[in-house]
Amino acid sequence: MKTIGIVGKGGSGKTTTAINLACALGLMNKKVTLIDLHMTTSHLAVEFGVIPQTTINDHVVNGDRLEDALHPQYNMFMIPSSLGMFGHEHVNLSKIKQNVKETFDDFDFAILDSAPGLGKEAIGALGASDEVIIVVNPTVASIADAIKLKHAAVRAGANPIGIVVNRHVNKWFEVPVDQISDLVELPILASIKNDEDFLKSQAARTPMVFYDRHKSEDFFKLAATVAGTEYRKGLFQSLLPHHNH
Ligand SMILES: Nc1ncnc2c1ncn2[C@@H]1O[C@H](COP(=O)(O)OP(=O)(O)OP(=O)(O)O)[C@@H](O)[C@H]1O
Ligand SMILES: [Mg+2]
Repeated sequence: MKTIGIVGKGGSGKTTTAINLACALGLMNKKVTLIDLHMTTSHLAVEFGVIPQTTINDHVVNGDRLEDALHPQYNMFMIPSSLGMFGHEHVNLSKIKQNVKETFDDFDFAILDSAPGLGKEAIGALGASDEVIIVVNPTVASIADAIKLKHAAVRAGANPIGIVVNRHVNKWFEVPVDQISDLVELPILASIKNDEDFLKSQAARTPMVFYDRHKSEDFFKLAATVAGTEYRKGLFQSLLPHHNH
């Protein structure tokens, strides 16, 4: 079992990446849990249209069993955070890595959706991660945060494996993808266009990999990298139903 943290600046696309990576790995027949470690302003449950009764908060605060908070979604198991008020003083993620690994030792991956930036919650997610993927928008601010996150990941004992560039528009005013890689000194694992279909898939509570397979190729590439398998175009997409929007 490997834990993979999805980190980055606020609003960069961490939750979108975490959901689609988890579902793409599920389509590769990997056993996956997708865990919401963004506890103060959590979004994972709402992306699936779920109002959860059992959450990771019950585990962090009361020591309840993690497996009681598993919510089957598509082809993986989500563990949501509570939608209620939850102050950062209650966020204690120091034991979460060990507990996730022990509880889900028969799983292949735990994908961890992190809080933004480098506050206490995000540092907790880094500490819970074996590997870290940094989601970056092609802006200087987003890249500045990514450089700090890479160093913080190493300090927390995690291995930063690469970057997902999200919401690029291929215009002169954005930082080119290869420059982002040079500046952060990490490889680009996926490069995803800005596309309003992400908002449509969100409104439909349907991850992009199920909503539009043609727009999901980079998520399948990312999943293949994470799983250590070779990506072949069309292989996973052939598993998916066709959609017309
Ligand atoms: N490639 C894209 N094109 C268009 N919209 C996108 C794209 N990726 C994400 N979005 C939208 O941007 C918004 C923010 O994305 P998301 O919630 O994944 O970011 P986040 O990094 O998890 O944010 P937070 O820091 O608040 O947790 C969402 O409404 C999402 O649907
Ligand atoms: Mg998020």
